[in-house]
Amino acid sequence: MFVHKIPTAHIHDPQNTSAGLGNSTAQGYFAANGQPVPAGPNPLLPQRGVIAKIKTETSDTKTFSITGFDGAKPFTPLPGQLGMLSLPAYGEAMFSVTSQDQTHIDMTIKAVGALTNALHEIEEGQECGIRGPYGNGFPLDFCRGKDLTFIAGGIGLAPVRSLIKYCLDNRADFGKLTIVYGARTSDDLVFKEDLFENWPEAENKNLHLTIDREEEAWPGHVGFVPSYVEELALPPTVAIVCGPPIMIKFTLANLEKMGFLPNEVITTMEMRMKCGIGKCGRCNIGSCFVCLDGPVFTLEQLNAMPAEY
Ligand SMILES: Cc1cc2nc3c(=O)[nH]c(=O)nc-3n(C[C@H](O)[C@H](O)[C@H](O)COP(=O)(O)OP(=O)(O)OC[C@H]3O[C@@H](n4cnc5c(N)ncnc54)[C@H](O)[C@@H]3O)c2cc1C
Ligand code: FES
Repeated sequence: MFVHKIPTAHIHDPQNTSAGLGNSTAQGYFAANGQPVPAGPNPLLPQRGVIAKIKTETSDTKTFSITGFDGAKPFTPLPGQLGMLSLPAYGEAMFSVTSQDQTHIDMTIKAVGALTNALHEIEEGQECGIRGPYGNGFPLDFCRGKDLTFIAGGIGLAPVRSLIKYCLDNRADFGKLTIVYGARTSDDLVFKEDLFENWPEAENKNLHLTIDREEEAWPGHVGFVPSYVEELALPPTVAIVCGPPIMIKFTLANLEKMGFLPNEVITTMEMRMKCGIGKCGRCNIGSCFVCLDGPVFTLEQLNAMPAEY
């Protein structure tokens, strides 16, 4: 496989002031001659960040903990919101923020192309660009006080996990939590610490795991997520669904058959995005901009969109 090498000039070095494109702080940018570039209200300009920690989740997925160049959290997203992460010379892309602490936001990223493969090659301490938060996030007020069913496949657990973590951190505000999660193999299950250590300990919850194909040492369920959801005969609640498009399609159809209400089934949409701020027209569906009005939509809203979506 072709491996993208990060040019050493792009490796994080706070003492290095000779980078060709000039240097920045969280407050502004400096030209190569050291003079400050006049600050302008450019919302596309990323802040300078550092990838402080990298955790391997599976053979093709890693979690990146990102802090600002000044050590402060780059921004404080709501569950389900997104950030645009960039590497010099490789470009930028939108990723869900899966968790956060006082000083970091975490993004869990699958290697699929130029930028994401490069991210999988870097080491802790790498400088990056980060901007956000973007998107509407999950409807917290609507979910509060209700039983919630989370259904995710593969890397689709990344955005859903931000809401699960929020519910667990504010446990008294939510009813019963049911989690159905599946991946191709047991190796492909992301967030194993949560799945096998943290979430089994949580109060008033059901956790159902499945993998696509039989494995000798796998004691759990085998089968695709949409049919497992049907097999479990889950009672209708508010449902939050995210995963590959084919999984979402069949899961939404099954939930409707099972009596889940279209205005209570919530999903996130992965339209390709460029600007993230409603300017480039890359993500619009009719008059709706997924980067501004979404990426979180109810099934009722999706049903009202043009048929090709
Ligand atoms: C709202 C939103 C949330 C996302 N959250 C996450 C996340 O939490 N974790 C994660 O790993 N990825 C997430 N993604 C997808 C991520 O943005 C893409 O994987 C990334 O853009 C790939 O960049 P690349 O340069 O590595 O790949 P490229 O070289 O640009 O493309 C590689 C391959 O992936 C395909 N591809 C790239 N982006 C998309 C896309 N959005 N939809 C379908 N196919 C695509 C391309 O067509 C190509 O075949 C999200 C995308 C959106 C829009
Ligand atoms: S990503 Fe540019 S308009 Fe939505």
